[in-house]
Amino acid sequence: NYEKIWLVLAMIMIVGFLTTVTYGATAVGIEMISDEEDTIDPGALDEDPRFAEPRVEQVGENEYEAYVVAQQYIFSPDPIEVPANSTVTFYVTSPDVIHGFQVAGTNANTMVIPGEVAKLTVETEEPGEHGIVCNEYCGSGHHVMEGKLIIH
Ligand code: CUA
Repeated sequence: NYEKIWLVLAMIMIVGFLTTVTYGATAVGIEMISDEEDTIDPGALDEDPRFAEPRVEQVGENEYEAYVVAQQYIFSPDPIEVPANSTVTFYVTSPDVIHGFQVAGTNANTMVIPGEVAKLTVETEEPGEHGIVCNEYCGSGHHVMEGKLIIH
């Protein structure tokens, strides 16, 4: 039946998209290795242990998790500081409107949608500073919405 055909077509498109994300990657000091999403109540970020206090946490020898809130017109924490040669998973969400979260000059890039937690894992390489930019129009302050990622 038609429903089944559409389902199969949708699956093919999803697989094609994931393949593009994986193989379209180029790294400049940092490399994105995965990108997925989870849900959250955008009005209750304060009650979520991950986002009540945006921060970077060490979770393994060379593994870190960064809980980041993108909102008009800042990223928190700012700067985000992580060591070189480590695996960093960013969890990013928004309490207000759609934002972007892109580590400038790299393929680490995700859309940040209220109600969803964007998850993005990168490998950091050399030390350095990268700008974090919002690449989704989010209001009058969109052009000044930026943060900093310090790899040390
Ligand atoms: Cu936030 Cu554009």
